[in-house]
Amino acid sequence: MRYLLGIDLGTSATKTILFEETGRIIASHSVEYPLYQPVNGWAEQEPDDWWNAVIASIKTVLLDSRIDSSNIVGLGISGQMHGLVMLDENNDVIRPSIIWCDQRTAKECEEITNKVGAKRLIEITANPALTGFTASKIMWVKNNEPENYAMCKRILLPKDYIRFKLTGVYATDVSDASGMQLLDVKNRCWSEEVLEKLEIDKTFLAEVFESPEVTGKITDSAAKLTGLSTSTIVVAGAGDNAAAAVGTGVVHDGIAFTTIGTSGVVFAHTSDLKIDHKGRIHTFCSAVPGAWHVMGVTQGAGLSLKWFRDNLCSDIIVQAENERKSPYYLMDNMAKDIPIGAGNLIYLPYLMGERTPHLDPNCRGVFFGLSAMHTRAHMIRAVLEGVTYSLKDCYEILKMMDIDIDKMIACGGGGTSNLWKQMMADIYGCSVNSVNSDQGAALGAAILAGVGAGVFSSVEEGCAKLVTIKDKCNPVEKQTNCYTNYYNIYKDLYPKLKSSFDKLASLS
Ligand code: XUL
Repeated sequence: MRYLLGIDLGTSATKTILFEETGRIIASHSVEYPLYQPVNGWAEQEPDDWWNAVIASIKTVLLDSRIDSSNIVGLGISGQMHGLVMLDENNDVIRPSIIWCDQRTAKECEEITNKVGAKRLIEITANPALTGFTASKIMWVKNNEPENYAMCKRILLPKDYIRFKLTGVYATDVSDASGMQLLDVKNRCWSEEVLEKLEIDKTFLAEVFESPEVTGKITDSAAKLTGLSTSTIVVAGAGDNAAAAVGTGVVHDGIAFTTIGTSGVVFAHTSDLKIDHKGRIHTFCSAVPGAWHVMGVTQGAGLSLKWFRDNLCSDIIVQAENERKSPYYLMDNMAKDIPIGAGNLIYLPYLMGERTPHLDPNCRGVFFGLSAMHTRAHMIRAVLEGVTYSLKDCYEILKMMDIDIDKMIACGGGGTSNLWKQMMADIYGCSVNSVNSDQGAALGAAILAGVGAGVFSSVEEGCAKLVTIKDKCNPVEKQTNCYTNYYNIYKDLYPKLKSSFDKLASLS
């Protein structure tokens, strides 16, 4: 039997899963790490925390599975996108990684737009300058920490740092590289023009590969640390959303998925390059060679629920531990008993600013309509609904861009909640499907590894063999109508609060 290893380097944890080539899971292990927020709107992680989590999760998976690691023919990595990892001449990490949801770079976005030109930037990188993307983070270090920038010899994305530790190779893939805002997204290579205008040395950047291409093998030292074999190939892999697309079979026109992880994403495959000229939706290269995808991002999706859990539900965490259940399961049950609209309580999920549709680093979370009759259960329900309204904003813009969506798949942690899935179907007003595996990004990374190792002849073939639609959740008209009344109020709130968000941000 041949095996494939998928590693998903998430924001809250790294999950490593060992699959048989049939897609059957043999062993799986997750290791969590902290997110540091030293200033309101900043978000950093330690690359060493990621690496230690990768080592620990691989070791556990190998131990639990008891397989001979030389039978693992391929390894694929998927990861949180956009994070900036800077290495010095000794390949040591210079500073903590500034990650995707960090919002400190509004000034640098203006600088990038002025230097490249707003229209030209979208023509080349398919996106406007965004605080979430890597280019503005690089410029921030250049402007604010010149001593760190002077030491920089290499710039890598989070999963590509892990690849470097595993293989000694500096490489990236087209989907993740698209989120750096330095890639010519149409031609799938670094843009000399953007690099020159921003004065970023091209030698800092890794070599760009298509996602299923082989980038290297496990080194002796990584083999010793993890128990992997030096014969295992490592493919380029993909950003977490592009990998989740592979793991849910979203590799053809007409199919889309919604994922609720720390961020929430509504993602559709497109074989033609399509760009939202207002920049509300990202266009990136797909993990399917020669194709692209479009996606809208809610910054604080699962993050909103995690924030609520960690700050307001310590008793539920204890209860969940005692009952050996997930706290989210218990929170879901509390929300289920509350009627649609959460007793007229509306939540705006802007804990870390917002991308789609507002592109606003200054906005923040809101509970609107809070009353003395509301309980914690109402607030949990409002969080779930508010996140879904934000995802509806993404879905509506994709439809406006003439992206055909015949089939919507739910995945990510949120996709495992029946309550959230029904909410999605009702609020979108369309059926929401599940697939046989809920391991989206890790499975996608493993399928890409299977293509690189010759187990599958193409990404599409790998998906056809391993991914099937499992069940379908249909919208209920009465519920859709009821949610629409709340969604309309939700949509009105941001424009009314915009100037107050800006004033509040200017106070810090
Ligand atoms: C996508 C994005 C997030 C991260 C974290 O643009 O920033 O989805 O990849 O998962």
